[in-house]
Amino acid sequence: MTTRKIAVIPGDGIGPEGIDAGMSILERVNAASKLGLEFVTFGWNADEYLRTGISMPHGAMEDIRNNYAAVYLGAFGDPRVPDMKHAADILLGMRFQLDLYVNYRPVKLLNERLSPLKAKGTKEIDFVIFRENTEGAYVGMGGFFKKGTAEEIAVQEDVSSRKGVERIIRYAFEFARKTGRPSVCMADKNNVMRYGGDLWLRTFEDVAKEYSEIESFHMFVDALTMQMVRAPEMFGVIVTNNMFGDIVTDLGAALQGGLGVAASGNINPGKVSLFEPIHGSAPKYAGKDVANPFGAILTAAMMLEYLGHQAEADVIEQAVIDAIEANETTHDLGGALGTKAAGEAVGKRLRL
Ligand SMILES: NC(=O)c1ccc[n+]([C@@H]2O[C@H](COP(=O)([O-])OP(=O)(O)OC[C@H]3O[C@@H](n4cnc5c(N)ncnc54)[C@H](O)[C@@H]3O)[C@@H](O)[C@H]2O)c1
Repeated sequence: MTTRKIAVIPGDGIGPEGIDAGMSILERVNAASKLGLEFVTFGWNADEYLRTGISMPHGAMEDIRNNYAAVYLGAFGDPRVPDMKHAADILLGMRFQLDLYVNYRPVKLLNERLSPLKAKGTKEIDFVIFRENTEGAYVGMGGFFKKGTAEEIAVQEDVSSRKGVERIIRYAFEFARKTGRPSVCMADKNNVMRYGGDLWLRTFEDVAKEYSEIESFHMFVDALTMQMVRAPEMFGVIVTNNMFGDIVTDLGAALQGGLGVAASGNINPGKVSLFEPIHGSAPKYAGKDVANPFGAILTAAMMLEYLGHQAEADVIEQAVIDAIEANETTHDLGGALGTKAAGEAVGKRLRL
């Protein structure tokens, strides 16, 4: 059996509690299905950064790039590090240096009871958002002119490359083809962002021609937010840029029951990729055994899916669905359990 290494980075705040719950599930599934995964935990977080001044040791990025199949990460953010330096070095560092250009965000309602929309249930709320993860406004290009004066000007660049746009759009179409999703919608704002938007639209139309069996359509991102609420069933796969994706994926999380149940993947196809629940470190809940661990557990399932273990990923998702159905959840989903007990409620329902 070949062994594949997984880097586990619990991080700050509620991150470690979610990762603990996810790891107890992963270890059981790994042993029962003989997946051959070896988990290596790294204690990089705000405590470590404040103690040593080092966010990530020299050579660690190369080690992860060369020797690991995936990264399983909790969350970063600590009020004692207001500039988020350690988080930027580790999380954004990995996104850019490992070229994790696909941000994969399934929006799937797991139980009708969690729907915030009248008359929209599990059948209607089930689509996937792909957010471009390495370009756009997040490259940090721009500058000030006459900073601090009354005439101050700030310029923030939004960067789109043909290569960057094409690869995320192609990934969205490939995913639709592979999973039998009927359509891909590209959302932008090309009526205002004329140059970047024009590149996105031309690229989308070019790539769509190669996937004639999949319906393709374009929407302005403002209209997209309205339709995600009015008629979520019209979407199969959505693809959009870094900033619009950042915003619409939070709306997606609200549609599926909140930040506590949403998982995400930061993927470089075929290479080491990073999986994290979409919530942050929620400092006010840290160490109190109240945070919902389902986002971290569903993230573990997503990581297994990426590693080619779809059956095991499905078993974990089904166990979460069954725990929600039994109302064995944390408070945010209407239950009365703590983090640990909610994780155990999933663990005892694993049908391995
Ligand atoms: N990827 C990341 O690591 C990431 C993402 C977002 C925010 N952050 C950081 O996290 C810190 C806190 O940020 P924030 O308060 O804006 O976002 P947050 O996601 O940490 O929390 C926002 C609110 O959502 C709810 N929530 C989040 N996760 C939950 C869970 N698992 N169970 C139940 N409720 C949950 C809570 O009410 C919480 O107050 C900041 O330092 C921020 O920069 C990190």
